[in-house]
Amino acid sequence: MRHLLSTEALDRETLTALLDDADEFAEVLTRPQPKVPALRGKTVATMFFEPSTRTRMSFEKAAKALSADTMSFSPGTSSLSKGESLKDTVLTVRAMGVDLMVVRHKATGAPWRIADWLDIPIVNGGDGAHQHPTQALLDCLTIRQHFGTLDGLRIAIVGDIRHSRVARSDIFAMSALGADVTLVGPPTLLPIDPDAWPVDVSHDLDDVLEELDVVYLLRVQTERGGGSVFPSLAEYTTRYGMTTERFRRLKPDAVVLHPGPMNRGVEIGHDVADDERALVLQQVTNGVAARMAVLFALLGGDTDA
Ligand code: CP
Repeated sequence: MRHLLSTEALDRETLTALLDDADEFAEVLTRPQPKVPALRGKTVATMFFEPSTRTRMSFEKAAKALSADTMSFSPGTSSLSKGESLKDTVLTVRAMGVDLMVVRHKATGAPWRIADWLDIPIVNGGDGAHQHPTQALLDCLTIRQHFGTLDGLRIAIVGDIRHSRVARSDIFAMSALGADVTLVGPPTLLPIDPDAWPVDVSHDLDDVLEELDVVYLLRVQTERGGGSVFPSLAEYTTRYGMTTERFRRLKPDAVVLHPGPMNRGVEIGHDVADDERALVLQQVTNGVAARMAVLFALLGGDTDA
């Protein structure tokens, strides 16, 4: 694996190897000294042209836990404001001695362009509504830790799938690991051609609710137009929200995931978000270990270290 840009081409074997490494790194992170020298001497740059809390900070923590140095690019205080191009920006940062870049950009395909321009591994930290592969890894890690496997699990991804890079990455990773994935949402929030994906489709959450092992809730992406395709947020909650009443109807061992940031009271009820079967903070914790596994794989980390 030279870059990690998408989950679409990741097979079961590759995903399983990354998740196995992530489990080991999760153990490292529980030690009194949560650090290994595997990437000593390497430098990881986080190049986030869109806002982030979880992805950016967990990549920085992951790099440091592997003893790599980190550099952080912030567009608002950079020479982008003087008109410097994306290409010149990344060539400039590369010239400072960076070994890997994590890129988030609102433009679909931007990480692929940067991978063409540079001679170092690129990790897609989220491009437009397209892909967010490390989110899928941490989601699969969280589900695998809970159930032991994804094989045969019934997973519903609910909400604004049309604008969701998380959904696009999760669909391929979860399916490759043996889960049955159903997309749930109004037609206006579903992709135009879901038949192209390994999924079932439902427009009625209540129809499938009681069969699910995992309910994966998505935020309505108002910044990408998701809020303009149904009458009101209240109606969205009535039809697709994980309310306390719906939560009670889930199987006793079913769990709820959300990539964050959550809109409490819209796609997820306040009480549901704080329930122990909502694994949202476990997902965040696993984000560090999953990203350690990716950095380790791409930078050829020292296994003995
Ligand atoms: N889930 C996710 O990508 O969160 P951030 O936008 O905070 O990185």
